[in-house]
Order: sequence, then C-alpha cells, then structure tokens
Amino acid sequence: MSKQILILAGDGIGPEIMSAAERVLGVVNEKFNLGLSWEHGLLGGCAIDAHGVPLPDVTLKAAKKADAVLLGAVGGPKWDTIERSIRPERGLLKIRSELNLFANLRPAILYPQLADASSLKPEIVAGLDILIVRELTGGIYFGQPRGIRTLENGEKQGYNTDVYSESEIKRIAKVAFDMAGLRGGKVCSVDKANVLEVTELWKQTVTELAASEYPNIQLSHMYVDNAAMQLVRAPKQFDVIVTGNLFGDILSDEAAMLTGSIGMLPSASLDENGKGMYEPCHGSAPDIAGKNIANPLATILSVAMMLRYTFREETAAKAIEDAVGKVLDQGLRTGDIMSDGMTQVGTQAMGEAVVNALA
Ligand code: NAD
Ligand code: IPM
Ligand code: MN
Repeated sequence: MSKQILILAGDGIGPEIMSAAERVLGVVNEKFNLGLSWEHGLLGGCAIDAHGVPLPDVTLKAAKKADAVLLGAVGGPKWDTIERSIRPERGLLKIRSELNLFANLRPAILYPQLADASSLKPEIVAGLDILIVRELTGGIYFGQPRGIRTLENGEKQGYNTDVYSESEIKRIAKVAFDMAGLRGGKVCSVDKANVLEVTELWKQTVTELAASEYPNIQLSHMYVDNAAMQLVRAPKQFDVIVTGNLFGDILSDEAAMLTGSIGMLPSASLDENGKGMYEPCHGSAPDIAGKNIANPLATILSVAMMLRYTFREETAAKAIEDAVGKVLDQGLRTGDIMSDGMTQVGTQAMGEAVVNALA
C-alpha cells in the first residue's frame, strides 16, 4: 500500500497549527516506522492568491493521488467579498465533493483534565464521548437550484435547496450504525421531519435500514431544535448522532464547546474505501491568526484519526492521543482552554510538548 499524504495548511491559523501537527507526524512516523511521506499544496485563500482559484487543478490532482489529506483551515476576511463561486470555502466544498468524502466523523470527547474548561458544569460533561456522524457531500450545501436572483419588483431573493436521496441517506446511516456497533450501540438520528420533507424521508430511510440490517442498534430520533437543547442539558445521553450536512455542522460546533474548546475537536471525512481528509472542526480563526496562540490539538488529534482510519495504525494513533493526555496532565494549556493554576503556552510550545510526550 502506498502511504502518501497531501498537507494543505490553508489560511489564518492554518499554517501555525499545521506546523505543530507536522512535527508530531514526523515523530510518530519515525518512532513507529510508518513509512509515510508527504508533500504540501494550496487550498483556500492562499490558493486564490497564487492561482486565482481556491482549489487549483494541481491540488485536486495531488489530493486524488494521495491516500490521505491533512487540512488546516481555509477562509478569512481578505476573501469574503470576492465572487462567491471562487471563495475559499467553495474550494473546501469542492475537494470534499470531488473526493466523495461523504462521511464526516466528529468525535466530541472530554479529556478529564479539561472538565473545568467546559462551559458546562463538570458533572454534566465528565466522561463525555459522543460521535457526530455528519453527511458531508449532500443536503443544502450542494442542492440545486441555488443562488441570489432579482424578483420582478426589483427585490433580491436568496435561495438554496435541501435534498437527499435514499442512497445518500442509507450510506451515511450505515456508517453511523457500524460506528455505534463498535462503541455504545446507540444511534440518535437528528432531523426536522415535522417540517421538512427531505428529513421526513431521512427519518423513514434510517428507520427501515435499522430494522432490516441493524436489529442490535438502539435507534432513536430527535428534532434538531430539541437536539441542540439536549446537547447542553444532558449531553451524555448521546452515543452516536447521525445527521445531515447543515445540522451536523451546527451541532458539532456546539458539541465542541462541551469538550472545553473548538480547538480540541478533530475530524475525519471518509469516502467508501477508507481514503480520507482530516481536519480540525474549527476554522481559520482570523482573530487570532499569526499570534502563536491557537490551539493545535484539534489538528494533532486529526493526525491520530488519519493514522487510525486511513493507515490502520491504531497503536500510533493511540500514542498521539495519550501524548495529548500527558501534556494536559502536565498542566499545559493554550489560551482557549486555560484555567486557574495551569501554565499557558503558545501553539508551537504545545506542539513541542506533544512531541516530547511521545518520545
Ligand atoms: P472559527 O472556527 O475560525 O473561529 C471561531 C472562534 O473560535 C474564534 O473566536 C476563534 O479565535 C476561535 N478558535 C477557532 N479555532 C481555534 C483554535 N484552534 N484555538 C483557539 N481558538 C480557536 O470560525 P469563524 O470565525 O466563524 O470563521 C473564520 C473563517 O474560517 C471563515 O472564513 C470561515 O468560513 C472559515 N472556516 C473554515 C473551516 C474549515 O476550513 N474547515 C471551518 C470553519 C470556518
Ligand atoms: C466546517 C466548516 C465548513 C462547513 C465551511 C468552511 C465550508 O464550517 O468544516 O465545519 O460548513 O462544512
Ligand atoms: Mn463548521
């Protein structure tokens, strides 16, 4: 098996968090003899600056050739006003779609050391371990028609289309059920079936699949508004949450806060064959870019997910996760997870600490 990684640092804090993550990748690669090699490419605003488009052909070609892609984050105010179809975020959506990365795994796990950093009371979040399975290449993010049109009276109107076919629903539900089978055995499917036909079909399809192929999985359904509330009321009731593109985007940022910070949440975006793109759930954080204060742990934990899901190197993946735990035990914190009595460190120092903990 070839073991090629394409690294796309992206914009804003992307290059900073990626340089910390790349150091960690280098160390595990040697320590565990993984035989991985990697090269760098441009995606997002940096690609617009260099090539005029957010996803240049050379990047897409390299991404298709690679076994895995490691991404920082894209976007920022500099590119927010350019023509919509070539904004950084469109590059991200296009690479997800072109690589067929329909299954987005976003695990919200509370490291016990960070119970104080969560905005919820420690007893509500202690032991939290939720997996959000977000459909990533369909729904309202990609549905046609979409656009901004001018009505006869001269007023402008924006519109998007939320659309899911049975096959798209089935394949993401399957991922959720399979994942649940490896952990708590429970899946909560989140929809808005009381209002939207697209999620009525979602609910029905998920229900049928569970009945026919997953009799041992405990399936429940919840409307998205209630799910948003339940996530902060009693988050530990959830094991695996499966939902569409937009609801998954929103609920995963909410779940991130339960773990202390969005700077802690990694993700894997997988196709049907184990190829994946790995990225933190957060964005390019323009407000803190270039200051060496961003939390690199979500990106470092995304490296662990890459080793687990694409390269099947569970020992190395676990070693990274344990090293993150050790660093937190040492009391080291970036600003976003800082609390009384801890030692505040910058992005690179946090990365270095993980490297040392691995040694
Ligand atoms: P964001 O996630 O970039 O930032 C939200 C808040 O969280 C900010 O206050 C930021 O400082 C903080 N934050 C984020 N990551 C952090 C980290 N690692 N350490 C410490 N604090 C962190 O979301 P936003 O401000 O809504 O978006 C900024 C830009 O990022 C936009 O252009 C958006 O489109 C883009 N974005 C990209 C991705 C991606 O590339 N996957 C994801 C989300 C947003
Ligand atoms: C994410 C981001 C992206 C999304 C944006 C930047 C396109 O918010 O990865 O969560 O909405 O999927
Ligand atoms: Mn998001």
